[in-house]
Amino acid sequence: MKSTVLVGVQWGDEGKGKIIDVLTEGVDVVVRYQGGNNAGHTVEIGSNKYVLHLVPSGIFRPNALCIIGNGVVVDPKALVKEIKELEQSGINFTGRLEVSTRCHLIFKYHSLMDGLRDKNQKIGTTKRGIGPAYADKAARRGIRALEMLDLKRFEERFRNEVDFYNKIFSSHDAELIDANAEWKELADAAIFLKPYITDTVLTINKMAKAKKNILFEGAQGMLLDVDYGTYPFVTSSNTTSGGACTGSGLSPKYIDSVVGVMKAYCTRVGEGPFPTELFGDEGEKLRASGREYGATTGRPRRCGWFDAVSARYSCMINGIDKLAITKLDVLDGYKTLKICNAYNVNGKIVSDMPSDTADIAVAVPVYEEYPGWDTPTSEACSFSDLPENAKKYLQKIAALVESDIGIISVGPNRRQTFVVN
Ligand code: GDP
Ligand code: IMO
Ligand code: MG
Repeated sequence: MKSTVLVGVQWGDEGKGKIIDVLTEGVDVVVRYQGGNNAGHTVEIGSNKYVLHLVPSGIFRPNALCIIGNGVVVDPKALVKEIKELEQSGINFTGRLEVSTRCHLIFKYHSLMDGLRDKNQKIGTTKRGIGPAYADKAARRGIRALEMLDLKRFEERFRNEVDFYNKIFSSHDAELIDANAEWKELADAAIFLKPYITDTVLTINKMAKAKKNILFEGAQGMLLDVDYGTYPFVTSSNTTSGGACTGSGLSPKYIDSVVGVMKAYCTRVGEGPFPTELFGDEGEKLRASGREYGATTGRPRRCGWFDAVSARYSCMINGIDKLAITKLDVLDGYKTLKICNAYNVNGKIVSDMPSDTADIAVAVPVYEEYPGWDTPTSEACSFSDLPENAKKYLQKIAALVESDIGIISVGPNRRQTFVVN
């Protein structure tokens, strides 16, 4: 049995969906354990491109059971839409998906609240209602998936919450929720989702005891973790490997390894400090060649050089056993590449990630330069196929983040991936 947690090492969008899809070939169960439909995980198989938001990226492997664990916040209408769209493209969900009874639900009032709060304190959220739904969970007023199993109870709880939120919205002169219209759609969603809602804690533990291979699919990235990220410019869940246990109900004693996915450079969507960010033509060049536009919101991603300070910190907290380094091909053709291995914070050189986001905001990256390569890497099938300078660059970033390379990705397609021994 092998239970593996896969996490994003940077600010999300590292290519987790692609790597999950590749790794699920021999996996029995794929589990999402945090986040919600703020995630956008892209999987490209042949000429087909899919973007998953709530459904685990293992859904394209017919033998893998997909689980949405208790730590995930679920927008019922968004989940129904995603399942229906995948069904239309030929994916069979029968017996393939389980949704935890304990998942907290996201409603329209959460998304509206998200927009309202973001006006006052600009985080640049996805406006999917993630923060407000986790806030309700912590405030002990959230509505859970199990409540959808009893429509009468569900309706009563939902209408009560709408009354509560409408009072807030009216005090801000904001749009009010039409409870009747919303309820109609929610009741349909609850009926549709009923067969999928089950106690997934039992399923996961049964699978672990039966020595099945379990893969945990992290969403977002470590630097967006609510405890360890660039707070308050973070998401509202624990995106770190530790979150896999609390978000699924599986004891840490069953976790065998942690895979960290990181880009060969850096990107970030939304607000918040990003020391190695490139602006103007330099930023645009990376954005264009990496096709760096959000898979969920379509927003242009901020792009920059590889930041070993934040990635080293991330690998330490996650306990990365193997790195999956993606988007190496995007760096093809650069004469020189820069890597940041220290920050200058108000005149002081630091190589550890500051805990004060204000320090990260003023940090000036201290760069080391490395020669680039001209030969395209996108057709490489093994480490030895890569240009010498690409090998050196990869070895350098792995050494700086104190982790070993396990997988290299040289293009968006499933086949453009190889294992490094
Ligand atoms: P995730 O949220 O971590 O799953 O990542 P996203 O799907 O949001 O963003 C990653 C993007 O990069 C997607 O468009 C992928 O198809 C693409 N991608 C993944 N790996 C590679 C790679 O090695 N090279 C290139 N050029 N694109 C990649
Ligand atoms: P995947 O799983 C990149 C960012 C948002 C915003 C902050 C808070 O595809 O890597 P939220 O809506 O979560 O409250 O927004 O987090 N963010 C992501 N950035 N990839 C993601 O997911 C993200 N999910 C949230 O842009 O800055
Ligand atoms: Mg994404």
